[in-house]
Amino acid sequence: NELPENHPLSDGRTTHAPLVRALRGDRPERLPVWFMRQAGRSLPEYREIRKSIGMLEACLEPEVATEITLQPIRRHGVDAAVFFSDIVVPLLLAGVDVDLVAGRGPVFAHPVRTAEDVARCRREFGPDRLREAIEPVRAAVSRTVEELGSTPLIGFAGAPFTLAAYLVEGAPSKDHLRARSLMHSDPETWRELLDWTAELSDVFLTAQVEAGASAVQLFDSWAGSLGVADYRDHVAPASRRALQTVQSMRLPGGGAPLPTIHFAVGSGHLLEEVATLGTSAHGIDWRTPLDEASARFGDRFPLQGNLDPAYLDAPAEVLEAHLDDVVRRGRRAPGHVLNLGHGVPPSADPDVLTRIVELAHER
Ligand code: CP3
Repeated sequence: NELPENHPLSDGRTTHAPLVRALRGDRPERLPVWFMRQAGRSLPEYREIRKSIGMLEACLEPEVATEITLQPIRRHGVDAAVFFSDIVVPLLLAGVDVDLVAGRGPVFAHPVRTAEDVARCRREFGPDRLREAIEPVRAAVSRTVEELGSTPLIGFAGAPFTLAAYLVEGAPSKDHLRARSLMHSDPETWRELLDWTAELSDVFLTAQVEAGASAVQLFDSWAGSLGVADYRDHVAPASRRALQTVQSMRLPGGGAPLPTIHFAVGSGHLLEEVATLGTSAHGIDWRTPLDEASARFGDRFPLQGNLDPAYLDAPAEVLEAHLDDVVRRGRRAPGHVLNLGHGVPPSADPDVLTRIVELAHER
C-alpha cells in the first residue's frame, strides 16, 4: 500500500518538517506547535466567512475549506495545518441526517439505538456510498496541500466510539450512558455499529492521505467515559480497524510509515490500552503531565500536547511558566509536538496563540 508518487512525503516536500520529524521520534531544532481547533471561531477572519456560509457547507466547498484551513497558518505561523472539516462529515456524505448546532454540537434526526437501526445504517449509509461522495474532501485536501508547500497538513477522523456515542445518543451527552448501555445489553449490535463507524472513518482518513495529508489524527473525544475493560474489549478493536489502511501506507519503495496520532480526552486511565493501537504518537490532554505519560508508555512514543486551555486567559508570565513546564516534561518522550490538551476555545484571544507559537520556537 504505497503513498502516491506526488505525495508530499514521497517527493520530500514535508519529510524534514519539524512536525513530521517529531512524530517519528526525532528532536528537530525547532519545537513544532499546532493547535487542535486552530481554524474556527477564535479567528475573526473565520467568523467573517461563516456569515455567508453554513459550517457543513463550508466543509464541502473546497475553496472555502482551503481558505479556512490556511487562516491559522498565515496568522500564527504554526508548524502544521489541520484540515478544516468535522468528525460528522463522513456520516453526512454517507447519507446520515446530521446537523451541527452552534454552541451544542452534532445532532442526529434519527438516533441509532436498536439492532434494526444499525442494520439500516449499514445497508443504506455504507462505505461505498461515502467513497462515491468524497470528492469534495479530496479536492479540498489537494488544493490545501498545494498551497502549503513544505508545511504538513494533518488529516483526521472521529474515532468509531465517539461517532457511535453521538449516533446512539442523537445529540451531545455528558456520560454517554445510552451508548455504554447498548454495549452491554446487545454486544453484537454494538460491534456492528462500531464496525460501520470504523469503516467510514477509515475511508475518510484514507481519502485525506491519498490527497496529500502528511499525518493523521484519530480523535476519541469521549473515550474517557469508558472503563478500562470496556475500552479494551468493546472499543479499541474498532479504533484499530479505523486506522488499518493509513497504518499500512508506506513511502514508495517500502520506506517509513505515515505518522499517525491517537488522541483521547480524559484518558489517563487508558494509556496502557491506547498504547496497543499501533499509532506512531499519542496526544495527551492537560490532566496527565507529559513525563508521567511517557513513563507509563515505557518512553516508546512521541507525545503531543498538553497545555491546559485554561491558561490562555492567565497573565503572560503565568502562561509562559506553564509552557516551560510542559516543554520540560515533554523532553522525557522521544519526540514532542506542542499543542493544547484539547481544542482552542472559541473565546480564546488569537494573539495569545500567536505568542505561544513564538515562545515555542524560541525554546
Ligand atoms: O481546526 C481544527 O481543529 C479542524 C477542524 C475540526 C472541527 N471539528 C471544526 C469545527 C476538527 C478537527 C473537529 C473535530 C471534532 N468535531 C471533534 C473532535 C475534537 C474535539 O473537540 O474533541 C468533535 C467531538 C466534533 C463535534 C463537534 N463539531 C462539536 C462538539 C462542535 C462544536 C459545536 C459548537 O458550536 O460549540 C462542532 C462544530 C465545529 N467543528 C466547529 C468547528 C470550527 C464550530 C462550527 C461553527 O463555526 O459554528
